[in-house]
Amino acid sequence: MVAVAILAAGRGTRMKSRLPKVLHHLGGRSLVERVLTCASVVQPKRQLVIVGYGGDLVQQSLSHLPNVEFVEQTEQLGTGHAVQQLMPHLQDFEGSLLVLNGDVPLLRPQTLTALLATHQTNGNAATILTAQMPDPKGYGRVFCDGNNLVTQIVEDRDCTPAQRQNRRVNAGIYCFDWHQLAKVLPQLESNNDQQEYYLTDAVNFLSPVMAVDIEDHQEMFGINDRKQLADAYEILQTRIKDDWMRAGVTLIDPTSITIDDTVQFGTDVVIEPQTHLRGQTVIESGSRIGPGSLVENSQIGENVTVLYSVINNSVVKANTQVGPYTHLRNEVEVGQNCRIGNFVELKQAQLGDRTNVAHLSYLGNATIGKRVNVGAGTITANYDGVKKHHTKIGDRTKTGSNTVLVAPISVGEDVTIAAGSTVTEDVPNDCLVIARSRQVVKPGWRLKPDEPAT
Ligand code: UD1
Ligand code: CA
Repeated sequence: MVAVAILAAGRGTRMKSRLPKVLHHLGGRSLVERVLTCASVVQPKRQLVIVGYGGDLVQQSLSHLPNVEFVEQTEQLGTGHAVQQLMPHLQDFEGSLLVLNGDVPLLRPQTLTALLATHQTNGNAATILTAQMPDPKGYGRVFCDGNNLVTQIVEDRDCTPAQRQNRRVNAGIYCFDWHQLAKVLPQLESNNDQQEYYLTDAVNFLSPVMAVDIEDHQEMFGINDRKQLADAYEILQTRIKDDWMRAGVTLIDPTSITIDDTVQFGTDVVIEPQTHLRGQTVIESGSRIGPGSLVENSQIGENVTVLYSVINNSVVKANTQVGPYTHLRNEVEVGQNCRIGNFVELKQAQLGDRTNVAHLSYLGNATIGKRVNVGAGTITANYDGVKKHHTKIGDRTKTGSNTVLVAPISVGEDVTIAAGSTVTEDVPNDCLVIARSRQVVKPGWRLKPDEPAT
């Protein structure tokens, strides 16, 4: 049986923030959520998050994840003290306890699986993830005998200059035999530079404790300040983009592009410079996004082009062209083979297949049929100052340039609306609507009729 405990009680003073450190975001998700979802790979029986500073906030932020237990550490007296708080909660637990620092968010799930496997096949009392760090500053140094058995872990600030030369560092990721750990936790002391109870001192009482070196030392990158948060983002981005390029996505000028690790792509997608893809976004095969676009929580169908545009919480179906300068703001669904053009904003609008909104329009709270041509400058007046109202336009209808549709309103199928109309009443199928004042021409009329025009 496996239980997972995540240390997330510290304030993270070095972040210089009111927000608990583990709630700072890295690529759309908090540090602690990243650690927790990574740990789910071992299918833990129990998931315990140790909270303290800003505990309520941490708890709230994870409320969407199932089966997470929260354990309070009211005073933050160190990582060993944090793990001591688990004792009443895991009294009857038998098996392996994975302990993860809440501020080490780049860990790969397969690394945890491997750590657990090594721990269990060797019957270790503890197994510790370590790495050879090019710059080990700030990390605890791990000292081993010739067989990778750990003799001591010394925090950076407690190291002698000679000890500090050791580049093998502690990732803050451990696997313990819970039964044995629970026995030694009460023996930890706080006689160190920080006067804290260090979890790392537990290795002095346990045997055997094995160190497992991680291949990619970037996985153990810990976040203590905002500079490291930015560095972690860069590492994460490189990782995501390299993986997608190898999987067949073309990124033009990858350094100018950002992609969340929740985004999915089909084959032969091209992402142009200065494009940002976030959240639960899917880009299907053959589509070309960018340059200069932001797509968030949206589904983009096959062979779609998106140029200099912003798309949020929307669906765009196959072969549609979006942009330049389009904003699909929220709950927009655009059908197949549509053209949504220059300077167009759509909000809570559904558009049928082969419908065009090519220039300078705002359509909000609208249901638009198939093969509709929305003329340049067509606007839905959807808001009366208190409430939003709905506009419906039937199939094959054409709205003239500068049409205003005063909602609630329903325009039928096969309707033509004359340019400059302000349509305030429902329109039946199959007709021409002219809703504008008639042009008046007064022959010979001059501003000052006595004086000849210059
Ligand atoms: C810790 C390790 C160090 C390791 C490094 C890896 C110890 C003593 N040191 O150092 O060997 O190289 O992580 O990143 O463990 N926390 C609590 N309660 C507390 C104190 C901390 O929950 O009382 C949590 C923090 O919120 C954080 C994690 O434990 O998520 C690590 O604490 P931090 O103070 O950042 O430890 P480091 O000094 O980085
Ligand atoms: Ca840390």
